[in-house]
Amino acid sequence: MSNKRPDDMIRITTPELAEAFIEEQIAAIREQVKDGKVLLALSGGVDSSVVAALLIRAIGERLVCVHVNHGLLRKGEPEQVIEVFRNQLGANLVYVDAVDRFLDKLAGVAEPEKKRKIIGAEFIRVFEEEARKLDGIGFLAQGTIYPDILESGPVKAHHNVGGLPDDLQFELVEPVKLLFKDEVRVVGKALGLPDSMVYRQPFPGPGLGVRCTGAITCDRLEALREADAILREEFAAAGLAGKVWQYFTIIPDFKTVGVKEGLRSFEWPVVIRAVNTRDAMTAEIEQIPYPLLARITGRITKEVRGVNRVLYDVTPKPTGTIEWE
Ligand code: XMP
Repeated sequence: MSNKRPDDMIRITTPELAEAFIEEQIAAIREQVKDGKVLLALSGGVDSSVVAALLIRAIGERLVCVHVNHGLLRKGEPEQVIEVFRNQLGANLVYVDAVDRFLDKLAGVAEPEKKRKIIGAEFIRVFEEEARKLDGIGFLAQGTIYPDILESGPVKAHHNVGGLPDDLQFELVEPVKLLFKDEVRVVGKALGLPDSMVYRQPFPGPGLGVRCTGAITCDRLEALREADAILREEFAAAGLAGKVWQYFTIIPDFKTVGVKEGLRSFEWPVVIRAVNTRDAMTAEIEQIPYPLLARITGRITKEVRGVNRVLYDVTPKPTGTIEWE
């Protein structure tokens, strides 16, 4: 398959078109892979999930999915990957708990680019180790989509496990590489993936690592994960899930004085960020209704250990970026 989307390629907008695409890709995958084995880094994001579901249909257990938990995932994500892929779809799934490894490597590192490099390099190392344990793998599947090829918009690095050493070079299988994101979602729906996966908001490869500013610590990371889960729950309850492009929390690495149950507290703030954008190059803030903000603030300060304050970032991009880092 060439890397250029043909001008007359029909946009996949309906379940019927998605079914036709799925059948076509199953045939193409079987033709390419024959009786070979395929390896896939399954993050649980839309693109790698759709690729996994397609390959499971095409070659069943000859697809080996590796899910690396680097400790920077959102609450419930590794569990969902295991539930959907291993339990429901019967995937041959290797789950790697690499949480301590990543946190050890990141200990004391405050500089954003350094943190990103460590996370990226460690991911490749973990994936490489898993790949070496497996016999007879000839192919590497990737959730590359068309915007990645066009290189427009933000660079997505988390699917790309290029960077593996020379003796571990596999032939690539990239079944959704000519699709745009909305088409990948239609295909994901047709493959029976849950809405919470198909309509997931964008999530950076380095995950919560870019939202836990400064040097990451376990307790601050845990507070961030809990605050993020509350925010997502409340957005869903308010009918905003899927309507706002991206909404998440950040935990800065400073403390302020507050008062809790009549006692002085010295704890972290949590920042709420909610933005809308077309291409992530510019973004406007979502105007969260005040009563909802108050409710989220109440829950975070009550339920999340170590947090005594909630802030709302009202900065558009520019001048702010979407993530804080
Ligand atoms: P910024 O912070 O640059 O983010 O305004 C723009 C968009 O890119 C997302 N982002 C990433 N996505 N891997 C990704 O797949 C990454 O490393 C990464 N870093 C930022 C960010 O969430 C926002 O949607």
